[in-house]
This record gives sequence, structure tokens and C-alpha cells, in this order.
Amino acid sequence: MRILLTGVSGQLGAALQRLLGAEHEIIAADREMLDLSQPDAIESAIVQIRPDLMINPAAYTAVDKAETDTDTAYKVNVLAPQAMARAAARLQIGLIHYSTDYVFDGSLGTDQPQTELPAYTESYACNPVNQYGKTKYEGEQAIQDSQCQHLIFRTSWVYSLHGKNFLLTMLKLANERDHLRIVNDQFGAPTSALSIAQVTQQIVRQLAAAPDQAAWWQQFQGLYNLTNTGYTSWFGFTTAIVEQAGLRGLLNKAAPTLEGIPASDYPTPAKRPVNSRLDTQKIQQTFSVSIPDWQSALAECLDQQHPLAAS
Ligand SMILES: NC(=O)c1ccc[n+]([C@@H]2O[C@H](COP(=O)([O-])OP(=O)(O)OC[C@H]3O[C@@H](n4cnc5c(N)ncnc54)[C@H](OP(=O)(O)O)[C@@H]3O)[C@@H](O)[C@H]2O)c1
Repeated sequence: MRILLTGVSGQLGAALQRLLGAEHEIIAADREMLDLSQPDAIESAIVQIRPDLMINPAAYTAVDKAETDTDTAYKVNVLAPQAMARAAARLQIGLIHYSTDYVFDGSLGTDQPQTELPAYTESYACNPVNQYGKTKYEGEQAIQDSQCQHLIFRTSWVYSLHGKNFLLTMLKLANERDHLRIVNDQFGAPTSALSIAQVTQQIVRQLAAAPDQAAWWQQFQGLYNLTNTGYTSWFGFTTAIVEQAGLRGLLNKAAPTLEGIPASDYPTPAKRPVNSRLDTQKIQQTFSVSIPDWQSALAECLDQQHPLAAS
């Protein structure tokens, strides 16, 4: 298939380009080719390219900055996916788009013990608590309203060995400091960009092999949660990062001591949900895909060559 892929400089876009590029023709749409903050130009540009499938991992992902840069966040996260969806409807092709746990307010089950937090299913009512979450939710709605053939995958706490993310920040801090204070009262599934790309690859294979792609879309289109399984806190994630990095020789000094702190001790411009758990039963059952737990995915990620390992 000819796949138009956005966000190729980002964590997920880069992983998708690597995996899907081995099986399909990828038209890599970077910011220069398709600037998502200029949504008026998007629909006609895509119609000219005439891909067989569009995949959109690009997004305005600066959660705190989105609180004040609302106009750009709205263009990139709402108007751009809306324009892509219009183009997909015109060309009668499918659109795969990614969304976030931040569409929820995170209050689900927070009166229960932290070890028994329930997970949000796809049908749970959204109520974003920050501008980023609000724009991502409106982006989902714009795609659904367009009636184009679509898959929307909601994910959470994405990391990779590339770009800006919590894993790389913690590896850097663990190599610089002797003591780290980490939030221990927000919970979710750390999710490797590689795992999201692998599941997407399997689903695109199923689509490509379908004898009637329109019928395939009719049967499978919709909204799915896609995260690594299990859950932890930022503190739990950091504990695992430091342990696993130490085992692989990725720390240049003794491991730092870790201290759990409440989110109220680490104020940020954007509010974050307490419970970010997403239930992944639907995607696993519908497409017969299995998703690794967050600990195995972290190990798999760290097993790849890491730039810090050489220093
Ligand atoms: N990161 C997370 O923790 C997280 C959590 C939940 C959901 N998600 C969702 O998962 C998806 C992938 O996230 P990610 O972490 O891979 O994102 P990322 O690493 O921040 O990459 C974002 C990508 O979007 C591109 N982009 C931003 N503004 C653009 C514009 N105006 N025109 C064209 N391209 C633009 C960036 O290009 P430049 O390099 O040119 O800026 C970059 O390639 C997104 O839908 C995100 O909302 C992420």
C-alpha cells in the first residue's frame, strides 16, 4: 500500500516509518511537506498525493505549553485531523489516528486502593482536564463526525529511545543526580512507541490482506485503547528504569536514591489525570493481537543500542 505517514520525526512516527517501511511504500509527510498548523492546505494536498491509507501520529504534544498556545494546539490536534478525515472521505481511503488517556479526567476508581484501580474502556464518558486533552478529544470527534473510514488508537505515557520523553529524562537525571523526587500518586501504563507501532503494523497487515477493504473498514473501524498492559505510577516507572538501566550498564555512576512525592509537590501549568489506565481488551480481542506488559516493553526498548551506553 502507499501510506501517507505524518510525524516521522516524532517517537511513534519514527517507529512506524521503520516497521511499515519494510512492507509498504511510505510517503513521509514532515512539517515541511504538510504543516499541520496550516489546516486549510491539508485536504487538497492529500487529495493530490492520493495515498491508499493515511496514518497520523503527528500531534501538538507539549501538554503544558498547550495551556497558553491554544490556537496552535487546536489547529494541529483538531483542524488538521478534521481536514485529513475530509480527504480520506473524498478518496474513500482509511485514516489511522492516535489519541490519549488525557481525554479522561482520571477520577475513575480513585476512591479505591491504588493496587485495584479500574481501567477506562472506550465507551467511558470523556472529560478532559487540560487544553491538550480537550483538543485531542475534539480531534477524535472531528474524525468520527466526518464518517470517513477510521481507526483511532488511544495511548498513554509514550516513550522511546528517540525524542523527548520521560524515559530519556530519567536516564539523564539518573546519570547526573544522586537523589530523584518522583510523583507517586498518578497512575498509568508506560507505553513503548515500538509496541504501538508493532500493533499498528499487525492491523495494517490485516487490512492489506483483506479481499474487500471497504468491508474490512465497515467491520473494524472505531476507537480502541492501545497501551502496554499493566500499570504503575511515575515513581514505579522510574524505579524500573533505574533498575533496568543499571543492569544494562546504562548508568555511569551509582544509582540515585528515589523518593515518592505527591503531584501537589510538583506543580505544572496543565493538570494531569490521577488514573490514566486504559482497558486494552477490545483491541486484543478484535484483532487477535497480544500486547506486552509495560515491564517487558521497557526491557525490549532498553535492549536496543542506547546513545548513553557509549558515554
Ligand atoms: N507522548 C506521550 O506521552 C503521548 C501520550 C498519549 C498519547 N500520545 C499521542 O500519541 C501520538 C504520538 O505521540 P509522540 O509522543 O510520538 O509525539 P512526538 O514525539 O511529540 O512527535 C510529534 C510529531 O508531530 C509533529 N508535528 C507537530 N506539529 C506539527 C506541525 N505543525 N506540522 C507537522 N508536524 C507536526 C512533530 O514534528 P516536528 O518534529 O517537526 O515538531 C513530530 O514529528 C500523538 O497523537 C500523541 O497525541 C502521546
